[in-house]
This record gives sequence, structure tokens and C-alpha cells, in this order.
Amino acid sequence: MTVDPNRLDALLHEERRFPPPESFREQANFNDPAVYERAAQDPDAYWAEQARHISWFRPFDKVLEWDPPHAQWFVGGKLNAAYNAVDRHRQGARKNKAAIVWEGEPGDSRVLTYDMLGREVDKAAHALRQLGVQKGDRVTIYLPMIPELPIAMLACAKIGAIHSVVFGGFSAAALRDRILDADAKLLITADAGWRRGSLIPLKSNADQAVDGTSVEKVIVVRRVGEASGASMVPGRDVWWHDWLAQAPTTPCPAEEMDAEDVLFLLYTSGTTGKPKGIVHTTGGYLVGVNTSMRSVFDIKDSDVYFCTADIGWVTGHTYIVYGPLSAGATVVMYEGAPDFPDRDRYWQIVEKYGVTILYTAPTSIRTFMKWGPEYLQRHNLDSLRLLGSVGEPINPEAWMWFHEHVGHGRCPIVDTWWQTETGAAMIAPLPGLTVTKPGSATKPVPGIVADVVDEQGNPVEPGQGGYLVIKRPWPSMLRTVWGDDERFRRTYFGKFEGVYLPGDGARIDEDGYFWILGRIDDVINVSGHRIGTMEVESALVDHPAVAEAAVIGRSHEVKGQAITAFVTVKEGVQTGPELVQELKQHVVDMIGAMARPEEIIFAAELPKTRSAKIMRRLLRDIAEGRVLGDTTTLADPSVVDMLKRQYKDSE
Ligand code: WT7
Repeated sequence: MTVDPNRLDALLHEERRFPPPESFREQANFNDPAVYERAAQDPDAYWAEQARHISWFRPFDKVLEWDPPHAQWFVGGKLNAAYNAVDRHRQGARKNKAAIVWEGEPGDSRVLTYDMLGREVDKAAHALRQLGVQKGDRVTIYLPMIPELPIAMLACAKIGAIHSVVFGGFSAAALRDRILDADAKLLITADAGWRRGSLIPLKSNADQAVDGTSVEKVIVVRRVGEASGASMVPGRDVWWHDWLAQAPTTPCPAEEMDAEDVLFLLYTSGTTGKPKGIVHTTGGYLVGVNTSMRSVFDIKDSDVYFCTADIGWVTGHTYIVYGPLSAGATVVMYEGAPDFPDRDRYWQIVEKYGVTILYTAPTSIRTFMKWGPEYLQRHNLDSLRLLGSVGEPINPEAWMWFHEHVGHGRCPIVDTWWQTETGAAMIAPLPGLTVTKPGSATKPVPGIVADVVDEQGNPVEPGQGGYLVIKRPWPSMLRTVWGDDERFRRTYFGKFEGVYLPGDGARIDEDGYFWILGRIDDVINVSGHRIGTMEVESALVDHPAVAEAAVIGRSHEVKGQAITAFVTVKEGVQTGPELVQELKQHVVDMIGAMARPEEIIFAAELPKTRSAKIMRRLLRDIAEGRVLGDTTTLADPSVVDMLKRQYKDSE
């Protein structure tokens, strides 16, 4: 386990307490502390009660069927996710309420009311059906943060097609892997996207990715126009606007989905090289995400809710699309970078739209700290009432800065621990009830049973480190890994019988508060993005110059962790700065820019145990400049001194 020593210090010495302000508690959706007790005594009854906030075409017969590791929630229930996120709001007072307030990076903007959003979704749903896309078919979506992204997702949901959104920062090769794994019939992309004023060549990546795959048609949104340089392949490619123009303008009936029908796939990194397609189903996911919007985010009709994540990650799926829309909220969606055109862009957006709830990541908060408070001081942030954090453990300094400079001491902070696999927030404060401590995600939300256990699965003493586990199934849990149920079983339920293993280390303090310590597997968390060490290693050894590679995550002031790669080259290869650049670029081409190694160190040899296992712990110690621990298991201890010297030279 990689544990930041500062984190342990925070856990042991954090004395600050932040009770919910009385004015917040009074108005909160969840302000009766008995909810925890009630949910603990009868979790099924609690979830059945929450499920009443979702519209069902047919009510469910049974709350939970648990045949470990397979859960079925809301058995027999029929519903549709797009109906819940859009159509039901079109029938009442929210018909003309802003659903999506979109801010483009260059400064253009669009507002879609629930009724307008519904029309767009219906047109796209019709158009999908016209192409022969059927219930259960996979549609890969590779789009920038533009309204067509949620529209495409909801159109899939409306007809029961399974969407697989691939983050726009992934390379052509990574997109191709995900298309192949999902066996997608259709790809929806854009000519290009904007990022910090430059273009992301989505269409050209897509062209490279789809060749020789199952993709028959490519739908292309025109976001950039001429400057994109995108070319269309006749017979295969269709412009989105032409595609919709010929679709019926009548309402598109929603497919009746079983609660357990698949809603979407979302790929995430694990310990082995190949990304896993995490499978989420309709009923449980929707109940889970909708519940957390009301409990953790205290969502109200009067809120303007801004989540800064990209929809290409689970945070965006849950807390830009399905969560807020199923709750009938107004959600702000921003296309670009926080420092474009200037470093005050988020604060400008908060002021412009009167944002009341802001959900962002520790890495962003640390970046704002570095930039300094003057960028916030340019804007009126009085509309904010609640702040959220997600993606990695938040260090107490960042928490306090968020509290003081963004929340002006007035807004509760919800630090939400969860994962792609959990679908929705799992360990988080309820802002009207929970006394917060900077750096702790506090306690499991009602209905979630979590613990910290030792190697044998026994709960550890307060303050002791161990494996974070979830002991009871929950509605929005992943159902399987796409096409590989055995991997699902092994990865998440292989260590402790019937108990879910998230892959994080944690401690519980004397007050029962959880402190997440970071990943215990070979997953690196770079700026809240999950990257498998194996994926980066595979990309490196794919390069003809490389013989062997070992990749580790070292602590980084802003990114949380940064990627360091130790590489041995083949006989006769010249090492030097050019090769470093070439290898970094190779990783970017194979995975995407977020996986670019911070540094590459050439080594004559990698440190290995006598059983030929690479000693990553040692490499991490070298990269973080720590005094080296026990190296007696090392086959050739002189390797370490050499590596230490080389690491120093590379700095
Ligand atoms: C991993 C999941 C869930 C949305 C974003 C990432 C880490 C996430 C926290 C938090 C400490 C956190 C964990 C987790 N993580 N949120 N509040 N405190 N750690 O989703 O890509 O599936 O990554 O992110 O290590 O396992 P993801």
C-alpha cells in the first residue's frame, strides 16, 4: 500500500470539527439523524423507500435478490432511465425549467430546458432506431463536453441501447480497444473538441480507431467546423445535424427496461493491462444516484448545480447526467479548461449562473491554491451553499482552503468516496447532519455497510490500517465486468467471501470516521484519473527500444500522484533526452495524455527479488527520496545504488 506519510499525520492529529451550520441543517433534505439507524436496521426497506423517487412503469416485486457476488435489485420492476431523467419533468412544473446550462470554452453558451432536451433526445432516439440500433446494442460515444454528449447518452437509454462513453482524452488506440471489447455497432463523435484554445482531433482519432471493428456508422457532431480539418468517409460517416434533420419530430416512446437491464458500460483501469468494462444496470443505478443527489448533495429545485468533471468519467455520468437530471435539477456543464481564457473561469461561471452547489476534485483545489486567491476575489461567489470533493483523498490544507476561499466559511463540504464500480457516493457526509473533519470522507451513507478489515477479513482496531470493504450489496453496484464475469468475481469478491473489495486502504478513527489511504493495488491516481501501472508498462514495452519497464506512482504536490517509469533498453539502443520524449509520446499515443509519464529513468537493470518479481516498493522509495527499507530480498543489491544515482541525475 502506498501511504502518504502526511495523510497518517492528518488522521492522527486532526482536531478541527465543522458541524453543519444551523441554517443549513434546518432546510436540509436529510436532517433527521435517525435515518442512519433506520437504514441500518432494515436496508431493504430504506432502499425501497428511496426507490419511490423514481418513476416505474411497473412496480418491483422484490427489493433485493443476493446470490453472491451477483445482486439483483428491484426485481420485476420496469422503468426507463431517459424517461426518469427527462420526460417525467416535461409533464409538470419543470417543463420549461433549465435542465442543462452549457458553457462552451470559447465563450458560446446554450440553455436546454427539460422540454427542449426531451425533443433533442427523442429525435436522436428515433434516428438511432432508424439506423437499426436495437435494445442491448452497444453504442460508443467519443465526444467533447458539449450538449450532444448527454443527448446521445439519453437517446441510447431511451431505446434501451447500451452506451459506452470513452473520455475524449483517450488516444485512438485506447478508443479502438474499447470499441472492440464492447463490440459496438455505432460510434458517435465530433469533428474536434476545444481544449485551452487548441483542437483535440477527435474525428481523426476515430478514423484510426474504427477500421476493421464492428462499427458500421460514424455520426459526427460539428463542433469546430472548417478548422477541424475533419474529413467524412462516404457511406460510413453522417453529420449529426443531417442525421437528426431527417428524424421524426414526434415523441419517441421509451423502451420498457427491466430493472436489471444494462444501462451503460464504462471502462476503468485495473491491475492487469486490459481495461475493464464496468456494467451498470437501470433500476439500481438510478435509485442509487438519485438518492445521493437528495442526501449528499441536498438537491432542491432552486439549485444551480455545477460538477466540473468530464462526462467521460463516472463522476460525469452520475453527477452531471443521471443524478441531477433524474432529480429535475439545473445542471451547469462546462466544455473546457479552468484556466481558459484565464484562471478565474470556474469562478466566472459560478457568478454568471448563480451556482449554488460546486463539485470538484482535490487536484483542482490544489491548483487554485497555487494560482492564489486573487482569481476568486474577482467574482461574487455568494450564491454557493454547498461544496463537494471527489477523486482522491483530500489533504486537510486543500480542504481548509476550499472551505475558506471558495465557501467563505459558510458552505458545508462533502468529501465523497466512491468509484466507477460503486456508481454513486458511498462514504460521504450528509451536509445537514454530519460534523466534518478536514481530510475525512466521514461515514458510509445510509444503506451502505462499510468496514476496514485485516488480511483474514476481521475488523481492525480503531486507527489501524486495513482493507476497505463493503459488506452488503447496494443498488448502484456494478453487476459484472463486460464479457468477463470471472474477472468480476476474482477482482472484487475473490479475497473475502461475499464481501466487496474496492482496492483502497483505509482507517477508521475513534469516532468511527473513515480515512481513505489510497489504492492498495497497482493503480495510480493521477489528478483523480485512475491509471493501471500495467497499462503504462505495456505501452512502454510496445516501443521497439524498450526491453523492460516498471511503472510506479510517486506523490506529487498538485496531481496527487505522478507516473515515474523505470526502463531498461535493448542491446545497442542509445538512451538520451530524445528517447525520453519519444517514449513519453508513445505512451500518450497508446493510452492518452493523462498517462504521460512525468519522468522516465533508464536503468541498466530493474531491482528484482530472487523470485524475479520487480520490487515496486523500492522504486517508489527511490522516486520519493525516502531512506530505503529492507533490501535483503533483492537479488543484486548494487542495483539500488545505481538506480538512486540515475534517478538523481535525471532530476
Ligand atoms: C478511486 C476510484 C468516483 C469518482 C472518481 C474516481 C479514489 C475517489 C475519493 C475520495 C479518497 C477517493 C479511490 C477510488 N477516490 N474518491 N473522496 N477520497 N479517495 O472514480 O476512476 O473509479 O476511481 O478513486 O482510490 O478507489 P474511479
